[in-house]
Amino acid sequence: MALLDPVLLKSRLGLLAGRFDVDALDECDSTNSELMRRAESGAPSGTVIVADRQTAGRGRRGRSWLSAPESSLTFSLLWRFSGPLARLSGLSLAVGVGLASGLESLGAQGVWLKWPNDVLLRDGEGYAKLAGILIELSSDRRGTQAIIGIGLNLSPPTGDLPQPAAGLSQVLSAVPERYVVLAAILQELHRVLETFAVDGFFGLKTEWQQRHAWQGDSVQILGEDAAPLVGRCLGADDDGALLLETASGIERIFSGDVSVRPAGNTLGVHPA
Ligand code: BTN
Repeated sequence: MALLDPVLLKSRLGLLAGRFDVDALDECDSTNSELMRRAESGAPSGTVIVADRQTAGRGRRGRSWLSAPESSLTFSLLWRFSGPLARLSGLSLAVGVGLASGLESLGAQGVWLKWPNDVLLRDGEGYAKLAGILIELSSDRRGTQAIIGIGLNLSPPTGDLPQPAAGLSQVLSAVPERYVVLAAILQELHRVLETFAVDGFFGLKTEWQQRHAWQGDSVQILGEDAAPLVGRCLGADDDGALLLETASGIERIFSGDVSVRPAGNTLGVHPA
C-alpha cells in the first residue's frame, strides 16, 4: 500500500490546509512518541504524523496498540492551548465528538461514544470498538500541549483481541482512501478543538451526549480496587466527568481508569 499522500490530503483540506502540517511515515515507534519528540523541538500546533506501521504503538492503561496499513489509520495531532492543564478537562470527550462527526461526514451511521474516549459501532446486542484515542498532555508557563493519538480500524481487525472490534467498512459501502478519511477527521477535529479552546467541554456536551452509547441507561462502573458502582448514567457534566445517579445520590466519575458497562452485563461485551 502506498504511503498516505500529504499533497492529496492538503488539497482535500481546502481552506484548512494551512492549519495542518502533515508528515507521512512508513514506520515509527509510536506516532504519539514521535510527535512528542518533535513538539519538544518546537513543532507547531497542527502538526500531524501519520504512520503506516508502529513498532511500539501505545494504547490506554499501558496496553499496546496494533495497526496495519491496509486496514487502519494511525495518526497523532499536536494542538497547543493557552492556559493551564486544568482547563483541558473533557478534552478526550471533545476529541471523540470530532472523530465521530468526521466519520459521519463520510456517511457512517451508528457511530457511538463510550466515556471517556472510545468510538464504537453496534455489534448485535452490544458494541464493538471502532477507534481508540490516547491523549498525552504537558504544560509549561506558555500553556498546555496535547498530543492527540488516534487509531481507527478501517476494516475489522482479526486475531486474539481483548474486546470486540469493528471496522469502518461495516458502515460504509466503500471505505474512501485514507487521505480522504484523514481529511474528514481533521476538519471535524479542527472544529471541536476551536470550540473547546473557547467554551471548554460545555460547548460540545450536547453533541457528546447525543452519541453517548449508554445515555440514560443503567450501568455499572468497574474500578480497579473499588466495589462496582451501579446506577443510571446521566451523561457527562460540563467538565467531562461521568454522572451516575445511584441510590445514595449523584456520583461524578473523573478517573478514566474505570470500565463502564450496561448493568446486568456479565458477558463482558463492553470491556474498557
Ligand atoms: C486506546 O487504548 O483505546 C487508545 C489507542 C490509541 C492508539 C493510537 S494509534 C496512534 C497513536 N500512537 C500511539 O502509539 N497510540 C495512538
